[in-house]
Amino acid sequence: MKIGTIDLGERPVFLAPMEDVTDIAFRLMCKRFGADMVYTEFVSSDALIRSVNKTQQKLTVADEERPVAIQIYGKDVASMAEAARICEAAGPDLLDINFGCPVKKVAGKGAGAGMLRNIPLMLEITREVVKAVSIPVTVKTRLGWDADNKIIVDLAEQLQDCGIAALSIHGRTRAQMYTGEADWTLIGEVKNNPRMHIPIIGNGDVTSAEICKQRFEQYGVDAVMIGRGSIGRPWIFREVKHYLSTGELLPDEAFSWYLDILKKQVLQSVERLDERRGILHIRRHLAATPLFKGIADFKQTRVAMLRAETVEELFNILDSIPGKFDI
Ligand SMILES: Cc1cc2nc3c(=O)[nH]c(=O)nc-3n(C[C@H](O)[C@H](O)[C@H](O)COP(=O)(O)O)c2cc1C
Repeated sequence: MKIGTIDLGERPVFLAPMEDVTDIAFRLMCKRFGADMVYTEFVSSDALIRSVNKTQQKLTVADEERPVAIQIYGKDVASMAEAARICEAAGPDLLDINFGCPVKKVAGKGAGAGMLRNIPLMLEITREVVKAVSIPVTVKTRLGWDADNKIIVDLAEQLQDCGIAALSIHGRTRAQMYTGEADWTLIGEVKNNPRMHIPIIGNGDVTSAEICKQRFEQYGVDAVMIGRGSIGRPWIFREVKHYLSTGELLPDEAFSWYLDILKKQVLQSVERLDERRGILHIRRHLAATPLFKGIADFKQTRVAMLRAETVEELFNILDSIPGKFDI
């Protein structure tokens, strides 16, 4: 499948944009394991224009991670167009607009998923951003604001008419935040709408190779996007890609293989930030990783692992964990 002129191959699998998660180190890691496209964390258009340092840093992309999308959000037409131009100058392969973020500080102010309550403004922003840059523009959004307003089937057509090159849909409403189960039926309806011709990327609750394959087969989406399923588990892309191409599940690696990946993530995080902030950043991955599930009496070790303050302390704890796959 293609987005604009970017060829992403057959049944591509993407790393979803995630704030405080998809920094450059994690994107490169996921890329190494087979992610076909990666997204930056979302970037505030207002902060970009004010040239806030931390925000500018989020625009750094590396050649090894291509194709890579920078994602922006905001609620003002002129700032979004201006931010789009600033992002384009940073050299991503495409630009993605976030109309899906449900958190209060974003949606409550009318940006992100808040735009699902102001469709004329959403469409105007989309048209102006498309006009402002020469790279493909894509949109990521949700099914609608709440259960009574699941407007995605009509909205997808309207967004397509604004000139976007692909649409990612997270199968939840804003009201659901991250609760309940993602509903892929409407994603499938958008995909099967004969008036739609742009690629549709399905997103929500894909946490295994089997689920990913099932989503492609049942809903006919052009690509699948994985978010939380990759946190503390960047190797999920290797499992998924292998299963999609061979129909066979990859056998487990030794426990130490997975642990080495997590340790590498710790080191990269510390190198990129500093020891204290790097460790704080990586705790989310350590807390979420499935690697330690099923290890007997793990609770105390887990608490210690998530409290460790230096790399040495953390690695001593990690190295003391008995590997459940190693005999
Ligand atoms: C910690 C976290 C941060 C997120 N940040 C963003 C973001 O910056 N932009 C965005 O479009 N979605 C963001 N999302 C939503 C994900 O991209 C994705 O749509 C959602 O998690 C559902 O997919 P999943 O079930 O595979 O996680 C975030 C989700 C999480 C859990």
